[in-house]
Amino acid sequence: MIRCVSCGAEYDDDEVIYTCEKCGSVLELVCDIDVSKDIFDGRRDNLWKFKECIPVDESKIVSLDEGGTPFCKCDKLGSELGVNLYVKVEGSNPTGSFKDRGMTVGMTKAMELGVSTVGCASTGNTSASLAAYAARGGLRCIVFLPSGKVALGKLAQAMFHGAEVMSINGNFDEALEAMTALALEKHLYLLNSINPYRLEGQKTIGYEILRDLGWQSPDRIILPVGNAGNISAIWKGVSEFYNAGFVKDLPMMTGIQAEGACPVTNAFRKGDKTVVPVENPETIATAIRIGAPVSDIKALNAIYDSNGYSETVSDEEILDAQKLLARTEGIGVEPASAASIAGLKKLVDQGVIDKGETITCVVTGHLLKDPNTAIDACTKPTEVDADIDTLRNLLMNK
Ligand code: F0G
Repeated sequence: MIRCVSCGAEYDDDEVIYTCEKCGSVLELVCDIDVSKDIFDGRRDNLWKFKECIPVDESKIVSLDEGGTPFCKCDKLGSELGVNLYVKVEGSNPTGSFKDRGMTVGMTKAMELGVSTVGCASTGNTSASLAAYAARGGLRCIVFLPSGKVALGKLAQAMFHGAEVMSINGNFDEALEAMTALALEKHLYLLNSINPYRLEGQKTIGYEILRDLGWQSPDRIILPVGNAGNISAIWKGVSEFYNAGFVKDLPMMTGIQAEGACPVTNAFRKGDKTVVPVENPETIATAIRIGAPVSDIKALNAIYDSNGYSETVSDEEILDAQKLLARTEGIGVEPASAASIAGLKKLVDQGVIDKGETITCVVTGHLLKDPNTAIDACTKPTEVDADIDTLRNLLMNK
């Protein structure tokens, strides 16, 4: 059953519906978990190991073996910050971001519904993922991207997997509005995170974190927030497993935004339940360059209900954290993902995070998604002939 998160109106699972017809709010799938957690044991460690908890037709699954991502204990960085730190590396998914979790479920629903065309607006990763899953499912794929603001790796992926890519003269929020209008006219099936099936896939990040910690909850989950779907999805996941009795505690959901694109943090600071859109969002972390997040209500509920927090970080803090994680722990992430590490650092400094807390930072996309920013942050390689004496001299004199 699909239910409105604001007024509780109910809809059938097979209705193609993105927002509540009664009040216009966002929707969610209602899932009661009635299995024992032991049934997950011994299965291949991908998203579909949780198939009983995902409300789609198993015979229609379109998958690239997503999920089951690395969960890295980061002792060096953790001890530097005085916390017990784990990093959930979502860049290890098939197309290099957490979006694959949403897309495997969203594309499976598209097959179930028998649609022929899927579409999304995207800051990059959603389009890369949708293009790959549409190829696998054999469906036509249309994507709208904000012109000039999509990192190179993501653009290459969307084009290479055969999506019809439109470069929109406008930002993400405008591109999404246009794409949604076309979906409501039934030209395509919308696979942005306003589609509640997307979040049914992404909630498995929450499932896995609890499982990865030996069926315990971390004190806190920290992640970047853009369109606000992922924080909502992870909260849904951990809440479902908590309600099923698989764990005894819940994590404080902590959403980090870029200073130039922070409607959720602004709302949190005022104690509001919805956001006031930021007109011209700007940040080097183009993945989260979003001013009007569609899942604002769900995200703020997640933060308030979990006794969580929201904070902003500057572009400089993001780039510093990106380098710190890469050089201290060997984990290469794109700028938006590094917002979670930058946020962790800031909240430790502010005393919001207590020493000794067990923290999971979700890093959402791979370093190579945005190769230009990575290269710009480094000094150029030294040009040198393949002459052993010169090379020895260079190395010894470093
Ligand atoms: N991190 C990365 C790498 C992302 O690509 C996104 C969103 C987020 C974090 C934020 O997640 O929107 O659920 O709050 N990217 C979308 C896209 C908007 O089009 O790829 P969110």
